[in-house]
Amino acid sequence: MRILAIESSCDESAVAVLDEQQGLLAHELWSQVDLHRLYGGVVPELASRDHVRRLLPLVRAALEGAATSPGQLQGVAYTAGPGLVGALLCGAALARSLAHGWRLPAIGIHHLEGHLLAPLLESPAPTFPHLALLVSGGHTMLVEALALGDYRLLGETRDDAAGEAFDKSAKLLGLPYPGGPQLAELAGQGRPGACPLPRPMLDRPGYEFSFSGLKTAVLLAVRAQPLDAQRRADIARGVQDAVVDVLCARTLRAVAATGHRQLVVAGGVGANRELRARLQREMAARGGQVFFPRPEFCTDNAAMIAVAGLLRLKAGERPGAGSEVRARWPLAELRPPLP
Ligand code: KG4
Ligand code: ZN
Repeated sequence: MRILAIESSCDESAVAVLDEQQGLLAHELWSQVDLHRLYGGVVPELASRDHVRRLLPLVRAALEGAATSPGQLQGVAYTAGPGLVGALLCGAALARSLAHGWRLPAIGIHHLEGHLLAPLLESPAPTFPHLALLVSGGHTMLVEALALGDYRLLGETRDDAAGEAFDKSAKLLGLPYPGGPQLAELAGQGRPGACPLPRPMLDRPGYEFSFSGLKTAVLLAVRAQPLDAQRRADIARGVQDAVVDVLCARTLRAVAATGHRQLVVAGGVGANRELRARLQREMAARGGQVFFPRPEFCTDNAAMIAVAGLLRLKAGERPGAGSEVRARWPLAELRPPLP
């Protein structure tokens, strides 16, 4: 089976072609960050208009890169939510039109299921069941992935997501949008312990997270002393250490309580080198294994949507004719594929 997949839930337009036997044949991505930087965040209407411009050329490029004609495809997958409604509709309308013209099934995929399944593109790949830490710009959650489509939420953030904590702190440090990766870069020059920041919820039971207090602490730290280069790096280091500490502590608690030996880390913040190194070390010390997507597949991409689409179509799921997209869509509402 070979399928084409389209991702357009936020500010990345992406298209991929995935083959069951040969693996990923092509993946194309257009990032809109330059478009939104001026406004310090994603402007939904601008995002939609850009998806309209970019998606079809990306489809052509992906098919060409994969040396694939529409006749060789068995399905089209697209992100159906959660995300920006206008942006989602661009991908959904294109995917369903192409599938209709090519007489193929079109399958709507949950964006977070895509993130969770992205490590299946790597080798070795995790198997079910496993524990997953999903850390993106919009979500921070610990999930037990029992089977394809069977996800049990252990806990999530009460307020800001981990990626948001990175981005908002970066903004306070004067770094351009989206600041997460740049804050991580700057943290490399910071001194450990020079700017201690709170670790919210660390001593509470359960698996919830809270990161909104961190930006207030960062604001106070920014104002407390003149911001020379070393001070900025120290604050960046403090932010990264606080977020990584909290994510690791909660995750390792869930590992201990559930007994899973496989941990998946997915979503944009999963590209963070410190987080990767720390979890790798801690899981190895416990005789477990941690699975990450390669950094480019931690952030939004269509390869992960292709994985979810391929697995569901292969399992016999036959989507209906509707073309709803959903801005909000709890992961726990997903079900295993139904023929
Ligand atoms: O998964 P993603 O691409 O988009 C959502 O679905 O939200 O995640 C984007 C988030 C942003 O907040 C970005 O700052 C963060 O991931 N991010 C990072 C790094 N790379 C991306 N945060 C920390 N360190 C990084 N290296
Ligand atoms: Zn995402």
